[in-house]
Amino acid sequence: MPSKKSTILVTGANGQLGQEIIRINDEDVTLVGLDRKQLDVTDLSMCRKAVETYRPSAIIHAGAYTAVDKAEGEPDEAYKVNALGTRNLAIAAREGSAKLCYVSTDYVFDGAGDRPYNEYDNTNPQSVYGKSKRAGEALLQSLSDKWFIVRTSWVYGKYGNNFVKTMLKLAQERDELTVVHDQIGSPTYTRDLGLFLFGLVKTEAYGIYHASNAGTCSWYEFATAIFEESGKQMKINPCTTDEFPRPAPRPQYSVMDHAAIRQNGFQDLPPWRESLRAFLQEL
Ligand SMILES: NC(=O)c1ccc[n+]([C@@H]2O[C@H](COP(=O)([O-])OP(=O)(O)OC[C@H]3O[C@@H](n4cnc5c(N)ncnc54)[C@H](OP(=O)(O)O)[C@@H]3O)[C@@H](O)[C@H]2O)c1
Repeated sequence: MPSKKSTILVTGANGQLGQEIIRINDEDVTLVGLDRKQLDVTDLSMCRKAVETYRPSAIIHAGAYTAVDKAEGEPDEAYKVNALGTRNLAIAAREGSAKLCYVSTDYVFDGAGDRPYNEYDNTNPQSVYGKSKRAGEALLQSLSDKWFIVRTSWVYGKYGNNFVKTMLKLAQERDELTVVHDQIGSPTYTRDLGLFLFGLVKTEAYGIYHASNAGTCSWYEFATAIFEESGKQMKINPCTTDEFPRPAPRPQYSVMDHAAIRQNGFQDLPPWRESLRAFLQEL
């Protein structure tokens, strides 16, 4: 008898990560992507209805309030989506016995350290966005018994706006740029992250994960690599965070150790430069 296909539901299906995940091909899985109109996670009844309708074995919760600077001025909205929305989904997932995978962020850390954060390090978010994402983590942990939290960083990909696309656009408009050199992190290609999440939710290896492309760089080094790999000429001047103030504080050192990936026997995400190259070739 043919085995019954399982269903994986994806929230925020119109976002840069969501759009990537819903394009994954796996003949054993039915992927259902729901955008904000189809499933607004701030509405508990919509969460329940989605779970009742599709009966997913797992939900990848990629929908979020992601406007980091804007969140400083509208904390209620950020918490409503990232904290309460995640709570609603956790309630609905529990009622439907579905696993729930919440995509979180390196912004849950203060970035004041000088060694990679592992999954069990204390969090200390500094921005409204980071605090609201951490609140979502805590609600999920207390409400669900089948949860994954996957913290990622510096996400870019084919869909939506991101740093790589901004750099490529600027290359058409000017020949000199200033980019921050004192924030260190790890870029993450949506394709690599999507595939990792997709594989993860098929397992029962619940818990917290850090998933970014392997290796680290500053934004300045990332920008330099983008122009080198795409063969574009650009003079880039390094600057400090203080010279480029933003409403929301950024973690200065947000490198994450991928201990849970190693300990659970998963494959680490490829080195960031390799993935950047693959992305640019495809673009
Ligand atoms: N981008 C990064 O650098 C980064 C870094 C670390 C972690 N993350 C996390 O990674 C995940 C994916 O991020 P992303 O880059 O794909 O963000 P994104 O492109 O901004 O996508 C987020 C999606 O969530 C949707 N959304 C907003 N409010 C919602 C609601 N109430 N109900 C359902 N969906 C809602 C948005 O819908 P609309 O299109 O209608 O606005 C958008 O399509 C998020 O959890 C984010 O916190 C991102």
